[in-house]
Amino acid sequence: MYPVEMLDSMKKVETTRKERIGFEPKRMTEEEKKNLLMQYHPDFNDKGFTELKVGPNKGDKVPIELAELLQANSRIKDVDIDLTKIGYDVDVLIIGGGGAGASAAIEAQENGANVMIVTKLRMGDANTMMAEGGIQAADKENDSPMIHYLDALGGGHFANKPELLYKLVTEGPDAIKWLEDLGVMFDKAPDGTMITTHGGGTSRKRLHAARDYTGAEIMRVLRDEVINRNIPIIDFTAAIELILDDGGKAAGAVLMNMETGEFLVARAKTVIIATGGAGRLHYQGFPTSNHYGATADGLIFGYRAGAKLIYPDTLQYHPTGAAFPEQIYGALVTEKVRSLGAMLVNVDGEAFVHPLETRDVVSAAIIRECKARGKGIKTSEGHCVWLDTPMIEILNGEGTIEKRIPAMLRMFMKYDIDIRKVPILVYPTLHYQNGGLEINSDCLTGVDNLYVAGEASGGVHGRNRLMGNSLLDVIVFGRIAGRNAAEKSKNVKIGKLTLEHVKKFAKEMEQAGISSDMVSPKLLPSYARKS
Ligand code: FUM
Repeated sequence: MYPVEMLDSMKKVETTRKERIGFEPKRMTEEEKKNLLMQYHPDFNDKGFTELKVGPNKGDKVPIELAELLQANSRIKDVDIDLTKIGYDVDVLIIGGGGAGASAAIEAQENGANVMIVTKLRMGDANTMMAEGGIQAADKENDSPMIHYLDALGGGHFANKPELLYKLVTEGPDAIKWLEDLGVMFDKAPDGTMITTHGGGTSRKRLHAARDYTGAEIMRVLRDEVINRNIPIIDFTAAIELILDDGGKAAGAVLMNMETGEFLVARAKTVIIATGGAGRLHYQGFPTSNHYGATADGLIFGYRAGAKLIYPDTLQYHPTGAAFPEQIYGALVTEKVRSLGAMLVNVDGEAFVHPLETRDVVSAAIIRECKARGKGIKTSEGHCVWLDTPMIEILNGEGTIEKRIPAMLRMFMKYDIDIRKVPILVYPTLHYQNGGLEINSDCLTGVDNLYVAGEASGGVHGRNRLMGNSLLDVIVFGRIAGRNAAEKSKNVKIGKLTLEHVKKFAKEMEQAGISSDMVSPKLLPSYARKS
């Protein structure tokens, strides 16, 4: 339960609750949002960014922590890798064992390819598994892919790559059907129709969910499917550099056994990077909702091989990371909590922002409330605001929390906080990289035979993703990448394998005067236990 110094403020939240029922905080104008973001969103904090000095994005602004890894030493800098000693030889090599990797593997095999997944942890240890609130798709009568497109375009500040967004929304309904046919148990009404809710920035209720563990349910089914199909999974094995052939085409990867440190060569006709996000780099010192392995690995070796980044300067800070107790600092409190009616309230019990503005706007409003207006609640980690969860049961009926967001109930109950009765404390948490490696609508990068899918890619969400479009992204683009990589592999003749690009990149660094004592990809966060 809460320490005594927070109780006065909590009482104020209770006191104002009645007035807040039925009251909708004002929506902001475009001008107000723009000013708020520029003043308070971490993407506009110049101190968090630096310019890249080498590579395809030379001169572009990226987070300092990412720049340090992009311009660090390769893990094979002084190692002589024997590229004639082939450990694995496949048509399609998939790097990453999350939702995008699994979807890609299933489709690649379906399209006749001999496919293999490598993953530095275990299959399913990924941000997909951690996703809570839902997956968007316009499959209801009052909705359409066009409306979905417009919502995501507005949310993305009109920077989304149109051809990618088009694929996302038009293939959305089929993605849901595909998942359901594979066995995903979505929430349904007694008449069998899908229960759907709003997310921030959606004009229609199009979030399909499995309670508040949607990602875990999807990953359960995808992982089973991969296993049932006997698709080889090489776990606890990280990709650390891509291998090209002498024609400059992607042709495999150098792998590293995470337990023994042994290097292995995987040769492949096509390669799919599906390595996910970067939350564990803790940009600007933020906590994260991400899984343990989210260290931007694919961005690092993809970049060294010549693939370009798009929007690497735009990150998503989910407005509601748990801020108390400290054991769960940064853990995701799903947006569904706000979809169901919980309001964000300051130390005086005042609602200060519409709870379903887009995430960047809500996060910036929370930061302003704490940092500029002095209206936050103090904890050991800093300041935060209340999320008034008891409103959910008042608005939707007793039992709603247990039925619709049971994982949230359990997470806080462990600390003696009953979210049905008392509000919870939240603060923005690093949740998603809006940008990533640039792809076309076939998931192909500028490097021949190199595909990217899921969070490691960029462009589809513009400069700010809407809730539920990431789960959709991993399925839609995972499947597209799998299909295209399989099809392409049928006509690929691999040339002589080479790692010259790694040496060339190191040379460029030297010429730019960069000397680093770091190695990358990072693979595990700095606080990982080293045995
Ligand atoms: O709030 C959430 O449940 C997160 C969903 C998402 O990032 O799509």
